[in-house]
Parts: sequence; structure tokens; C-alpha cells
Amino acid sequence: MKINTIFSFITLAVATKVSAECFAEKLGKPCCTETLDVVRVDENGQWGMENGQFCGLQSFNNNYDLNLERRSLNNYMNKVKIEKLCPEDLLEIKKGVNYPTVDSLTYYSTTTETNRTLTVLVPPNYSPKKKYPVLYLLHGIMTDGAWMIQDGFGTIAIPGNLAHQKKAKEMFIVLPDQYAPSPGTEVEPALNQEFFNGYDNFINDLVNDIMPFMKKQYSIKTDRKNTAISGYSFGGRNSLYIGITRSDLFGYVGSFSPAPGLVPGDDIFTGHFDGLYQEKELKFKHQPYLTMLSCGTNDTVVFDFPKQYHEILKTNKQEHIWYEITGHDHMDNESFSSPYHNFLTSIFDQVNEKPKTTTTTKKTTGVKTKITKVVKVVVTKFIKVPAQKTKKNN
Ligand SMILES: *[C@@H]1O[C@H](CO)[C@@H](O)[C@H](O)[C@H]1NC(C)=O
Ligand SMILES: *[C@@H]1O[C@H](CO)[C@@H](O)[C@H](O)[C@H]1NC(C)=O
Ligand SMILES: *[C@@H]1O[C@H](CO)[C@@H](O)[C@H](O)[C@H]1NC(C)=O
Repeated sequence: MKINTIFSFITLAVATKVSAECFAEKLGKPCCTETLDVVRVDENGQWGMENGQFCGLQSFNNNYDLNLERRSLNNYMNKVKIEKLCPEDLLEIKKGVNYPTVDSLTYYSTTTETNRTLTVLVPPNYSPKKKYPVLYLLHGIMTDGAWMIQDGFGTIAIPGNLAHQKKAKEMFIVLPDQYAPSPGTEVEPALNQEFFNGYDNFINDLVNDIMPFMKKQYSIKTDRKNTAISGYSFGGRNSLYIGITRSDLFGYVGSFSPAPGLVPGDDIFTGHFDGLYQEKELKFKHQPYLTMLSCGTNDTVVFDFPKQYHEILKTNKQEHIWYEITGHDHMDNESFSSPYHNFLTSIFDQVNEKPKTTTTTKKTTGVKTKITKVVKVVVTKFIKVPAQKTKKNN
């Protein structure tokens, strides 16, 4: 009897622990067993990723006011799959695959009152009879749009290979030059606020000059469901800044190893930033379908600033995906190619595309489903049995 009582206490404790931790199961997801990395935060809690799917880490207990729009957007981010590194073969230019072609254009900017260059990756087999979604992709400090097209980054290879495999939509990828000083304010490149002013002003060049120019030049879709912004380093800071400021225009925001300065803070290279926003202001008026932030764990340029943005978004309850690329530094190709390929496979409703199933994959899916069912049954029994025992003992 005594042993029985102790046993039921233990099993009750275990069962309570399991059900308390497994808030994720109520939402049809498992709880994490190995990882402690927060990959995503939403109104339910914190999530990790194991075996290619989200798993629950920690539940938020506060009652969050869910409206229908949020719920449906929540479903969108739920479907995003994060692969920590970009598979090597996506970086290769292959025979038999058509890749985006590079257009180098000149446009007149009312923001800078100068003619400026614009690098555009045109989707393969571009047809003006179709309309294409557009991704604006922003470079880092002291470089330019054309700098983004470099082999190790896979800027051209990755979208070409992914579209060929039907894992990403055919899209325009626009690589603007971000230094856009107001007339009379141009300065020599330096890590100081006078120079950064030209980057902060880029939002006007993008919205008032580049986006209308793109619409005139090509057959593109212009609603937020078909317009994305992402960037690397200073471009990551600016994509988050522009994504938040003009959430009416951009439905997907990717911020790869973002630089400091979006909120007040001190940086060893630059000194003090006043911040473009206060921390509590870092909120989207219109929730993006996808917000994704990433950084290498060994970043020696922007250090923990990306993680700080993640923490602020978490505090402000802004749904987003955050993940770290283990062992990588700022300038490593992986710090760009990893989030770039994850972003490309997730934007423009790609997550709702049904994968093309062959007979072999169908079989595999069948087996997987069966295994999942068996596991579910076991879990349910495990929780029920001790509960019944406890009742009997009472
Ligand atoms: C921009 O280019 C156009 C066409 O070449 C030229 O007519 C115009 O003067 C240029 N504007 C500036 C401000 O350089
Ligand atoms: C990035 O990739 C390119 C091309 O493969 C290579 O030459 C370069 O060394 C790589 N850079 C780093 C920092 O690994
Ligand atoms: C990254 O940082 C960790 C912790 O400081 C260190 O153990 C590891 O050796 C670093 N990796 C690289 C590739 O520098």
C-alpha cells in the first residue's frame, strides 16, 4: 500500500510535469527533447526546432487577445521550416537549370536628386504577361547592391535552384544601393552618424523612387502579400527598420545578422546610437506573414545586437522566427546563405504549396503518420493511467 502510494505520487508528478510542459501538444506540436534554442516566439510561448518541425520550449501564461487575422498569420509562420545551413548543392550553378539574369539600371531619385544605379535579378524566362512578386535585398555598410552578387553568398544560384525544384516562387530580387543622402548631405564613408544618415534616408528612396520605378519597368505584383524585404548586416538593420515603419507595404521581413542602431545602444566600433526607435516602439502595425531574424553564434562584428532585437520583439510580443547559426562569424558565407535560403523557401505563400509527391515519398509519409499515431496513443495512455490510479487511492 505504502509503495503504491509513493508510486502514484511519482507518476502523478511526472504526468503533471509532462502536461504542463507540453503546451505545444495542444497545438499539435511536440515538446522539445534536446534543443534549448529559441527559434520562434509567438503568443503561445517559445519554440525550438527538432527534426524539421517546431517543438514547444516554454509556454506564455498571459492571456493574449487573439484576433482572427493574427490566428491566420500564426498559421503561416507555423509552416515555415528552418534548415540551419544552406545545402551545398543550392550554391552551385548547374547545367539544365535557368538562373536569374542581372539587369543594371539607372533611375532618377527624387530623394537624392541624382541618377542612381539599381541591380535587378530578373526571374528566368521572365514574361511580361505574368506578374511576379518582388524581394528587396539590402547590402551591408560601405558596399553596394552589386556587391551582393558574390559566389559564396549564392545570391543568384540559390533562387535559381530553388525555383527549379519548385521550392521557391519565381520572383524579382532587387539589390539597391542604400546610401541615399538628402541633397547636400553627402559625406565620405565612415562609421559615424553623418554617414549613417544617408542609410537611414534610404527608406524614402525605396518607397518613393525605386518601388514606383520597378512598377514601370517590369510586370510585378505590388501588394504586401507579394512584396518582401530582407537584408544582411546594415541591410538587416534597415530591412527591420523599413519592415516595421512600412508594414503596410511589406508582408515578409528578413533580418540577417542585423547591425546595431535601430534602438538606443553603444557599439564598440561606432560609439553611441540614439536609435531610430525606442525599444517599446519596435512593433509592427500590420503583422507580417513572416518576420525572421538570424545571426551566427560567433559574430565578431554585430555581436549580440541581433539577439537583442529578438529579445525586444519577444518582450513586445511581436511574432517572429529567430535562429542562430552555430560557430559562424559575421563575414562567413553561411551567415548569409543560411537565412537567405530559408527566407526564399518561405515567402510569397510558398509554405502553402503542396510538395510534389512521388510514390516513394508517399510511402515514407504513410510510415511516418503511423509512427506518429503510435506515439500519440502511448502518450495519452501514459497520462491517463496514473490519473486513474490516483483516484482509486483517494
Ligand atoms: C540623369 O540622367 C538623365 C538621362 O541621362 C539626364 O538627362 C539627367 O540630366 C541626369 N540627371 C542628373 C541629376 O544627373
Ligand atoms: C565564401 O565563398 C567564396 C566562394 O566559394 C570563397 O571564395 C570565400 O573564401 C568564402 N568566404 C568565407 C569567408 O568563407
Ligand atoms: C565559437 O565560439 C565558441 C564559444 O566561444 C567557441 O567554443 C568556438 O570554438 C567558436 N567557433 C569558432 C568556429 O570560432
